[in-house]
Amino acid sequence: MTAFVPVSLDALPAGAGRLAFVRRILRNPASAVPSEIAESRVYAPSFAKGAFAYVADADVLETVLVERPGDFPKATIDERILRPIFRDGLLLAEGEDWRWKRRLAAPVFSPAAMRGFLPEIVAPFAALTGRWTPSGATVTADISDAMKTATLAVIDRLLFAGRSDIDPERIKRHVDDYLDPVTWVVAYAMLRLPDWTPFPGRGKLLRARDAVRALLADFVRRRRAGPADVDDVCNRLLAAADPQSGRTLTDADMVDMLLTLISAGHETSANALTWAVYCLAEMPQTQERLIAEIDREVGSDPIDQPAVSRLVAVRAFLLETMRLFPPAPGLSRRTLRPETLGGIDLPAGAAVMIPVYAVHRHPHYWERPQVFDLDRFTEGREAAIRRTVYLPFGAGPRICVGGTLAMLEMTAGLATLLQRVRFLTVPGAAEPQLQHRVTLRPRHRLAARVEPRRDRPAAGHPLRVNAPANDVAAAGRRVPE
Ligand code: HEM
Repeated sequence: MTAFVPVSLDALPAGAGRLAFVRRILRNPASAVPSEIAESRVYAPSFAKGAFAYVADADVLETVLVERPGDFPKATIDERILRPIFRDGLLLAEGEDWRWKRRLAAPVFSPAAMRGFLPEIVAPFAALTGRWTPSGATVTADISDAMKTATLAVIDRLLFAGRSDIDPERIKRHVDDYLDPVTWVVAYAMLRLPDWTPFPGRGKLLRARDAVRALLADFVRRRRAGPADVDDVCNRLLAAADPQSGRTLTDADMVDMLLTLISAGHETSANALTWAVYCLAEMPQTQERLIAEIDREVGSDPIDQPAVSRLVAVRAFLLETMRLFPPAPGLSRRTLRPETLGGIDLPAGAAVMIPVYAVHRHPHYWERPQVFDLDRFTEGREAAIRRTVYLPFGAGPRICVGGTLAMLEMTAGLATLLQRVRFLTVPGAAEPQLQHRVTLRPRHRLAARVEPRRDRPAAGHPLRVNAPANDVAAAGRRVPE
């Protein structure tokens, strides 16, 4: 037996200096994590001089994220990158301002609330397969683009009832323009340069920020004035109140909230699903295992909530994909007062860098960390994984409020695709490269061949599929089991 080792990022070589570090931050921030972190788990390069430290230690992360989150607010980096556009949305709000907004938003995103949206969540994925294979032929498809289209359509249907009174594509383009030169902001923040320091693309960034906020402000005004009988997340948020104070969201709060939700809520899932297709195409045996589960548990019926909870291998596959390709590969916090973390002294105001990508592949916490093994998350083994060692959705009170929606969307979405098609590698295609730009995505668009399934069970008649003996797709590195 061989096991699949997907593509990975190189860490910053041991002993690298400030210049090499800054180059990597500008090119690919997740690859700037010093390789010393494999030994030390809490590490500050000598040139950091109290400005920042990388923390990949589960106990220290427990302190920072779970036990004392109030002492470690979001870092200046997040503030400088995201605050100008998302302002006081849920992602960046702090203290009591965050608490009341989280109390208000949590029920809107609860598992019970999200379940009702399942048909809206599944529809864009079913539509994808129709577009890919109208004539029943095998085609080469742009998976990166397809997944973005599907997840943006999900957000459009959930947030705005898909009523075309706002154009989510336009919002996304503005947010992309805003985030394009973002690595400059990361580098400047880590080096503590003032935020007026010029960089290429600053003018475009400011124009995109103003345009997108104006667009949403106009939409919120129209929605507030319009009928409240449309049942979508936007109207649920407009009607929601903090259960403790009774406070409701103002128009400005709604702009912050919607912009945050659109941005946090689609590119993350799109990237996870894109990497999932890459892994499926490389592992035909694993793909057949998922197809067999889907055929057995759901057949060709539409995916409903009871079906989602029976798709344990599909879920485990997605969790393992997000271990190797965390959509948010780096989080950050800052110290409010002097702290000693893992033996390293940090002054007040230092950045605590949480290299989620490196934690997810850390040899101290994971056996054969580079190998794709979905059984890490099956048969109760998931329970043994510490919450600060597996962090795709973060940990502690600031954990992703859309986590339930994301897992529902990705499980039901992938199952809907695999009911209809198989994914195959494109012969001769180069291996994808990882690129960190807020989220972790393939540097170039990822393509796969999409083959319509001719062995689909008839509705209500599950069919068993014979799996090939081994994971033997063309590309990718293999290691002995
Ligand atoms: C695979 C999909 C997703 C991933 C990997 C992901 C990841 C994360 C992570 C790591 C955080 C914590 C950030 C930190 O601690 O600094 C977070 C927070 C957040 N996410 Fe997600 N997310 C996903 C999907 C979604 C969706 C679908 C939504 C909503 C539509 C959403 C909305 C948010 C919001 C509002 C926060 C801030 C929560 C707070 O601070 O209270 N996310 N997400």
